[in-house]
This record gives sequence, C-alpha cells and structure tokens, in this order.
Amino acid sequence: MEQTFIMIKPDGVQRGLVGEIIGRFEKKGFTLKGLKLITVDRPFAEKHYADLSAKPFFNGLVEYIISGPVVAMVWEGKNVVTTGRKIIGATNPAESAPGTIRGDYAIDIGRNVIHGSDAVESARKEIALWFPEGIAEWKSSLHPWIYE
Ligand code: GTP
Ligand code: MG
Repeated sequence: MEQTFIMIKPDGVQRGLVGEIIGRFEKKGFTLKGLKLITVDRPFAEKHYADLSAKPFFNGLVEYIISGPVVAMVWEGKNVVTTGRKIIGATNPAESAPGTIRGDYAIDIGRNVIHGSDAVESARKEIALWFPEGIAEWKSSLHPWIYE
C-alpha cells in the first residue's frame, strides 16, 4: 500500500500540535508505520530540501528545520500522498483552506507547521533518508472497516 513521509516541523512540536496532527491522520483512517522525535543537523536538512537549494528562502528554511526537534512519521493508506497533502493544505497558510492543518494552525509560509511528500517517488526517497533503520511491519485490524 502507498506510503508518505510526514514531518511535524519545529514550530508544530513547540506549539503542542503533535497530538492534534497525529489524530487527524489516524481519524482519516491512515495507518502509522513509523514515528520518531529527532533534531536534525544542517547537512541532513539540506539533503531533505535539496530540490530547493537555489531558492532565496533556502537558508531560512534550513535554519527553521534545524531549530528544534521534529516528529518524523511514515503514514500508509490508499492515495495517502495526495490525500495527505490535502489534509495539510496549501504551502502558504494565507491560502490554505480552513479545515486543513495549515489553514487552521499557521499564518506565515516560513512557519507552516508540517511537511508532506509531494509524490510517491519523493515519499520513497524521504522515507529512506529519514528511516534508514526501516519501519514497523504491522497491519491495522481496522482495514475491513476502512476499505471495501
Ligand atoms: P513541504 O511539505 O514543507 O515540502 O512544503 P510544500 O511541498 O508545500 O512546499 P515546498 O516544497 O515548495 O517548500 C518547502 C517549504 O519551504 C515550505 O513548506 C515552506 O516552509 C518553505 N517555503 C516555500 N516557499 C517559500 C517562500 O516563498 N518563502 C519562505 N519563507 N518559505 C517558503
Ligand atoms: Mg515540498
């Protein structure tokens, strides 16, 4: 089944939004397959956001991501990459719909609380980067109540 990499950024952790965010993915019906609280260093953050290295906001983005612990997660489910991005909302919280995580909990684009992989292929790369030790093998017993 499809997997995505979700990260609660340092502002989300500091603001006590971890439980709320995990709850939204759980209640949707997705399955938690990996979870850890981790503070990453600059080279690691630069690797995670390598695609954005030419952007003017890159240094600020890296400073933000290394400023405190993040919660790194793997979530699994049908269309979880696309649906996960919908749950998260638009990159700029000024444009994120109410009801999305960024729409409900963020104001500035540079403090937008959460990251989600943008494609199945980037999810695969990000999961390998953040969870080199591998992730849990388990199947939720709720599957028959969520999938037809
Ligand atoms: P992620 O899930 O964090 O990858 O966000 P995204 O996929 O919605 O956006 P993108 O990958 O394009 O940008 C990564 C992150 O860089 C965003 O989540 C923002 O925190 C930050 N960012 C993107 N664009 C801007 C910008 O124009 N200014 C600033 N300050 N930050 C930006
Ligand atoms: Mg992105």
